[in-house]
Amino acid sequence: MIPENEVLPKNRSARPSVRVQRKSAQRAIQLLSKMGLVDRDFNLKNEEKTLTVPLIRSLQTMESELLQRELGAILGEDEFEPRKKSPRTLEDALSGKISLEALKDLPKSFDIVGDISILELAPQLGLYEKTIAQAILEVHSNVKAVFAKAGPVSGAERVRPLRHVAGEERTETVHREFGCVFRVDLSKVFFSPRLSTEHQRVARQVAEGERVVDMFAGVGPFSILIAKTVKNVNVDAIDSNPEAARLIQENARTNKVESKVHVHLGDARTVARQLDGRATRAIMNHPSAAKEFVDAACDALQPSGGVVHYYTFGEGENSEARAKSELEKACSGYQGALAEISILTLFLRSFSIRTISRGRSLAALSAWIIRVLSEMNPLLLTTRSVA
Ligand SMILES: C[S@@+](CC[C@H](N)C(=O)[O-])C[C@H]1O[C@@H](n2cnc3c(N)ncnc32)[C@H](O)[C@@H]1O
Repeated sequence: MIPENEVLPKNRSARPSVRVQRKSAQRAIQLLSKMGLVDRDFNLKNEEKTLTVPLIRSLQTMESELLQRELGAILGEDEFEPRKKSPRTLEDALSGKISLEALKDLPKSFDIVGDISILELAPQLGLYEKTIAQAILEVHSNVKAVFAKAGPVSGAERVRPLRHVAGEERTETVHREFGCVFRVDLSKVFFSPRLSTEHQRVARQVAEGERVVDMFAGVGPFSILIAKTVKNVNVDAIDSNPEAARLIQENARTNKVESKVHVHLGDARTVARQLDGRATRAIMNHPSAAKEFVDAACDALQPSGGVVHYYTFGEGENSEARAKSELEKACSGYQGALAEISILTLFLRSFSIRTISRGRSLAALSAWIIRVLSEMNPLLLTTRSVA
């Protein structure tokens, strides 16, 4: 018999217990929790007609009387299964399974898209890839599949090859970002959770009533967030990858913004020029090739011009300055439908979003693109930096 009031050691699976009829189960849990008596290190015993709750200590007479009166509880002592605890950190889950050196080299974070985790390990951890992937599944109950990056993002579709390492073998998932829901298939379309802050930053700048052209829309993280958060907005979302166009259409429907997001499957250069030339803003999130599409972005903007969100990869320390001169050069070579029109670029903001690899970063520029008559150019040719 366990003495009254004694708090028991955790390695002992015999605990004082309270047994109640199933109909009183919910009330029993509530009352015992309120009294701070439930021993959460052990599993409750769920039987056909009764529920038995492990207690952290034996009861005082008054407590026993209260439980008997309120719940018709039977007090006693039972054997309980210790509750299996999942490790809280990756280090905890891996300690003793991989060497101390390897533990130190573990990545500080890894990408999670929906319920899929994407691993990128230092070469010296290659040996432990499966063990680390299993540990991720153990620690993060929301992760159901682990893939490893098997090469760089490449091709026009900007898709990264992935290799399955652990968990479910599927690349399709549902990702949530700022209240929007995106269906993504990582083997067929580009998506990076690392751009979420940028998606939000741009969406926050869009004013009521704007007309936006998202020239490289992917599954829609810019377009759909804008449509969801800005009133009376009109978004043309273009992508040349049929799978991206299919998914953005589905995502627009799921997020209930299909009336504001018009999806176009095709080449941004052609589609942007076929629009009505009244956009207030163009988003050019195709860093490896954006410069080739600046003409089309300028054509898509309203006659007085508008804002362009331009992304490019920069090498070395002056990546932002180089990004600016890349956009200026692309603008100066503008070949609009009307020969007398040329373009003036006013930079609003430039910054480096993130490092892609050593010495290489993703630069973001926001610029006002203003159309001017060529004859005025001598006055306006100098580009000014305003931010
Ligand atoms: C870097 S991803 C950006 C996707 C999206 N904006 C995001 O933030 O997740 C570039 C996208 O441009 C699309 N793309 C590439 N070339 C294109 C073109 N010529 N016209 C339209 N879309 C293109 C790719 O299929 C890809 O989805």
